[in-house]
Amino acid sequence: MADNKNLVVECDNLVKIYKAKDLEVVALQGLDLSVEKGELTAIIGKSGSGKSTLLNIIAGLERPSAGKVFVDGKDLLKFTDKELKEFNRSSIGFVWQNTARNIIPYLTAQQNVEVPMMITGHKSRSAWAKELLQMVGLGNKRNSRLGELSGGEQQRVAIAISLANSPRLVLADEPTGSVDGRTAHNILEVFSRLNKELGITVVIVTHDMRISKMVNRVISISDGMIGSELFKTDCLSHNIDNSDIQSFISKTHDEFAIVDRKGRMRIPEELMTKMNIKGGQKLTIHENDRGFEVFVDSLSK
Ligand SMILES: Nc1ncnc2c1ncn2[C@@H]1O[C@H](COP(=O)(O)OP(=O)(O)O)[C@@H](O)[C@H]1O
Ligand SMILES: [Mg+2]
Repeated sequence: MADNKNLVVECDNLVKIYKAKDLEVVALQGLDLSVEKGELTAIIGKSGSGKSTLLNIIAGLERPSAGKVFVDGKDLLKFTDKELKEFNRSSIGFVWQNTARNIIPYLTAQQNVEVPMMITGHKSRSAWAKELLQMVGLGNKRNSRLGELSGGEQQRVAIAISLANSPRLVLADEPTGSVDGRTAHNILEVFSRLNKELGITVVIVTHDMRISKMVNRVISISDGMIGSELFKTDCLSHNIDNSDIQSFISKTHDEFAIVDRKGRMRIPEELMTKMNIKGGQKLTIHENDRGFEVFVDSLSK
């Protein structure tokens, strides 16, 4: 363990058991995971499969019940609580699904990005915050207060905040979970760009299968264990066919829909039966008084 200098994350036989009153929940049961420096990895899995628990342990926000976790060659189990906090602050960038958890609404975008730097005593805070906001495409919104920005823009500020202390690793827990489809795509693109251009190691938990076109690796987690790995390539991920992704997910995932190249929404067969939808049908979805027509078809086609 921890010999390979290229590994940013190494989890070995991780176990996490939550105890609440007389109830024990096994969130992770013997999970192994390695992430190399510079990789962009997506983790997918059903709700409750242990994804957040895993990210929190890697981030040093929680301790495992058993097993080992090394981040950047450091054995997190050897850290005291204070050291763990310091490690989290200086080495990990974290983006949560809930934007409110990432940001302070009454401060401007620029001030928000400067906050973590104040805590660590970063020099030239203003210039670095400006640069980061430019990187995430918000150079012109630096002085907007967070309450004045859209959900997607707030999430991009959150990404800039996560980078403020030049972390070794950026972890994102369903960062696109509360924004619409196109905005989600933009956010995933920002991660992809930061990974490619700055070589930042990123692990994203997501339901959004479009990410599979942008990452090096898609890993599924099920019942607290790594279920399977779809692919690991050096930027050849666009060669993966939609049908590969579909068969992969149908084995590992039960709460998703994908939009195929022709703009059809594909959902699992059982769901179609349950919702009484026939294949090849147009449906109207209402949102904010506007109707959207979607063409729905079975995933298995
Ligand atoms: N603080 C906690 N206390 C008790 N049980 C928890 C706690 N956090 C998570 N769990 C349980 O652990 C399991 C894994 O949760 P989580 O890691 O949040 O899954 P995911 O992020 O994949 O939805 C679930 O059964 C969940 O209810
Ligand atoms: Mg979660």
